[in-house]
This record gives sequence, structure tokens and C-alpha cells, in this order.
Amino acid sequence: MPPAAPRPPRPVRVAILDHTAELGGAELALLRLLGTVDRARVDAVVVLFSSGPLEERLRDAGHRVVVVPLDPTVRDISRAAGPLGVVRGAAAGAAFLGRLVASVRRLDVDVVHTTSLKADLLAVPVALLLRKPLVWHVHDRIAEDYLPARTVRLVRALARSVPRAVVVNSEATAATLPGARGLVVAYPGLAVGQLAATPRQAQPDGDPVVGMVGRLSPTKGQLVLVGAARRVVDARPMTRFRLLGAAAFGAEEHERAIRSEIDRLALGASVELVGFVEDPRTELDALSVCVHASTVPEPFGQVVTEAMAWGVPVVATRGGGVDEIVRTAPPGAETGLLVAPGDEEGLARALIDVIDHPREALARAARARADVSERFDLERTAETVTLIWEDAAS
Ligand code: GLC
Repeated sequence: MPPAAPRPPRPVRVAILDHTAELGGAELALLRLLGTVDRARVDAVVVLFSSGPLEERLRDAGHRVVVVPLDPTVRDISRAAGPLGVVRGAAAGAAFLGRLVASVRRLDVDVVHTTSLKADLLAVPVALLLRKPLVWHVHDRIAEDYLPARTVRLVRALARSVPRAVVVNSEATAATLPGARGLVVAYPGLAVGQLAATPRQAQPDGDPVVGMVGRLSPTKGQLVLVGAARRVVDARPMTRFRLLGAAAFGAEEHERAIRSEIDRLALGASVELVGFVEDPRTELDALSVCVHASTVPEPFGQVVTEAMAWGVPVVATRGGGVDEIVRTAPPGAETGLLVAPGDEEGLARALIDVIDHPREALARAARARADVSERFDLERTAETVTLIWEDAAS
């Protein structure tokens, strides 16, 4: 083994930039990461471009937070706006950039770290002006099924030239950033409290409950699940469905679409939109099966590892990071059931399989719990990211 790099004499100072203070997957991953990094080695301050629940959660956990409010015209540019839109927005937000540079300069950090796509882009001029090493933490697949083609080209080109290191949440995300500088996979890890003490011994009493955890968004596939629900309820009428998660990032229209689809399919008595839940563990306890139904390849699929760690049988759609999480071979080693994205009938079949064959489902769930707790270890994630920061600072 090569000798370990000498430790810097003081903690590495990192400014972590995120454009949103909503609790999306990347933000939950950040909260857990910061809860685990060694504060003797890392002095982190989070710079958010708006106020929101993430700010409170960070402060409650004892982290420093600075809010540099972003002009809403810049903040609300959708993913579909393309780089031109982003550039126009950035022009409108020139004043914001000035404030951001001034704030980060005042923080006197060694490293600038970004954890959302808009922060990745906006931090480029900040890091260049302040001559600070930039680390990108990419939680999105930089691909055309997910983002406008021009944005993909821009982000890929920048990833090859500007950041000192690019941390990604899966091999699937890594594959969308060819040639990125210092590309490292650091899977979002599971915190100790997310691992059930023992594998699930029996399915919950009563009627089967199918759940889905995640913000309401067209790409997360809630409509596919509602379509599958009609088929499941036709075959197993007592089955209930719970959609857990709020319509974050301006997806209120999608929420309306889900509600009207529930009405159209006469599923009002079987499907419930529960909204955001603070602690999904009690909800997970009540589920017979947890579904992940993304219609485009998921960058990672944290909710899948979370359900598995909590001992809940999982049915998920193939693609992206989910293929790295769920094992479907060899026979006897499966940890979940995978179906094709958008395949309502296949999804319904898999759900009925779990409902009808609890013993097999529980055996897969027990293997899944053991497997994810070993492979998605938060300490390892924190160590990987800490080493990247120390290296960038030295
Ligand atoms: C984003 C991705 C999701 C991933 C999470 C944590 O929310 O969409 O796939 O699990 O970040 O990396």
C-alpha cells in the first residue's frame, strides 16, 4: 500500500453550495454525509441559494449555514431551459453572482464543493475568480433523456476542464460524464439508524399495502404505479397504495395529473397521496412492498437502498443506479424484483408476485438488507469525500 498522504495540520475548510433548500434526494444525502464526516478533519459551511427545510435541518444538526438568496428568475429556470436560458438567467442574476463571490470569499475556505446542477454551473465563475479548487458532487445523470442536449454538452465540457474532482453517486452517473476530471464514485451511504436491527420476519398484518417513497415528479413514475394499481386492484381487490412524498421543485401540475388519473381509474378508495413524511421508517413498516417506478434511468435510487435497509421487499424499474443496487442473479441470490420502465402490466405482475408469495419476498428482502448495509456504508462515503477535499486543498 502506498504511504498515506500527510494530514493537513488543521481541518480542511469547505464551502458546500446548493441552489435549493428543499429536501430532495441530493439534499438528504448531503445531510447524512455531513452528519458523518469527522469534524476534526472537515470544517464545512453550507451555502444555500434560498431558505427552506434543508436550512433548518442543517442548523438543527449543528452545521453552519449561509443563505445567499438567488433571484427567483434564475432559481426557477427549469431543467428544460437549456444552457441559453441558464446563461440569460445568470445575466439576470449577475448581482447574485457578485454577492455569492463576496460571501464565499468571506468564508475563507480551501475548497468549493457543489451538490446540485445549478450550483455546479454557478460555482464555476466563483471558483475561478477566487482561485479555489472546485469539487462537483453530481447526483444527476448528465444525459439527454434527463436534460436538454445543450446542457448536457455544456456540463460535460466543464466537467472535463474546470473541477478538480467530480464525485458521482453511481457508475451509471459516471458513465454520463466521460473524461471528467478526477471522477470518483461515492455511493450515497446509509446511516446507522436507517438499518433495521433484524430482517423482517413477517409481512404486516392486514390487507397488502404497496408504497412508493419519493417526491412527486413525472420522471419518478407515479402515473405508472397508478396504472399498475388498477390492474392489481382488479386481481387483488383489498390491496391499498400509498404515495409518500410532496410535489417538490414545482411539480404541482404533476400532482394534479396523478389525482385526476386516480379519479379516472376509480381508485379513490385504494390509492392515497400521503404527502411528505418526516421520518419514512414508520411508513415503511406498514408496507408489504416498496416500489420504485422511475421512467428514465435513475441516477442512483437512494429510496431503494433505504427500503432495502429497512427490510421491506422492493420492486423497482431497471436502469441507471438501480441496476447497481438490486441483484437479480444468480438464482437464490436475488435481492428484489426488477421490471421495465413504464411497464404497468409487468409492474402489476411483480406486485402480485410479492403479495402472493410473502416467503420468497421476505427471503429476498433479508438478503437485500445484508447486501446494502455492506455496500452502501456511510462511513466509506464520508471517507472518500473527505480525502477528495483534503487532496484538493493540499
Ligand atoms: C438525486 C437522484 C437520486 C439519488 C439522489 C442521491 O435525488 O435523482 O437518484 O438517489 O440524488 O444521490
